[in-house]
Amino acid sequence: MWFSLDTEVEPLADYVSDLAGHFEPYHFERMAMTRWVTAEWNCNWKAAVDAFAEAYHTATTHPQLKWYLDDIDIQIDLYDKHSRYLIAFGLLSPRVDSVGEIPPPLKFLLSDAGIDPASYEGPVNGIREAVQKHKRATQKEQGKDFSELHDDQLTDDYNYLVFPGVTFNTHSDDLMLYRHRPHPSDPNKCLFDVWMFELIPEGEEWPELPKHDFRPEGSTRSLGLVIDQDAANLSSVQAGMNSSAYPGLWLSEQEIRLRHFHKTITEFIEG
Ligand SMILES: [Fe+2]
Repeated sequence: MWFSLDTEVEPLADYVSDLAGHFEPYHFERMAMTRWVTAEWNCNWKAAVDAFAEAYHTATTHPQLKWYLDDIDIQIDLYDKHSRYLIAFGLLSPRVDSVGEIPPPLKFLLSDAGIDPASYEGPVNGIREAVQKHKRATQKEQGKDFSELHDDQLTDDYNYLVFPGVTFNTHSDDLMLYRHRPHPSDPNKCLFDVWMFELIPEGEEWPELPKHDFRPEGSTRSLGLVIDQDAANLSSVQAGMNSSAYPGLWLSEQEIRLRHFHKTITEFIEG
């Protein structure tokens, strides 16, 4: 999965440092690849990395997610060249004042975990904990072993950036891995790879490897609503950065992973 053309390259375990220990409890080796897509996007690869390393854009780019996750109270950690943020899934954003019945995305989370939403009688913001408890209690009968994960990891999104261009959305039951690759000839474009992996319950047969699906520039086939929203945003971000009226930008505390990413790139370039 990882390679280098540099024969003197440092060992991967040294390069990823602390992150190896973060990934081990998920047991990626028990996950099968279920989707492999490459899309050609109209932005530089670094702008694509930026888009997956902050949640500040969630409220405006992905308004539907306020019914599913907390986009405000986010833990951000910086590690040497790498970084992560932890986003609680399975609850309402603090931007949502009140809600009557359970919103559809949270109903889906309940049923996906094996809980009938009609039988759930707790508060809407108790769904995250109910799902965690249920997954913990039923893991054996589901052929899954979550014993090395703590409760938050049973619902939440732990999003890692392995510098320079790989982002991991780690979840207890799946891994969404994105690669952000430079375009071979055009700095205003990049290649965005989606690799989906799903946890295969013990004893279950593994699916066949998916065929590679390439989406050239202009393809209108969906990559899923959330990624489509990011892609739509990124072509205008790139156009804006190419404008002579663009002086650079201020990055907020919520975007500190971007500052860290670009500082690391500068350190590599300038030595
Ligand atoms: Fe996004």
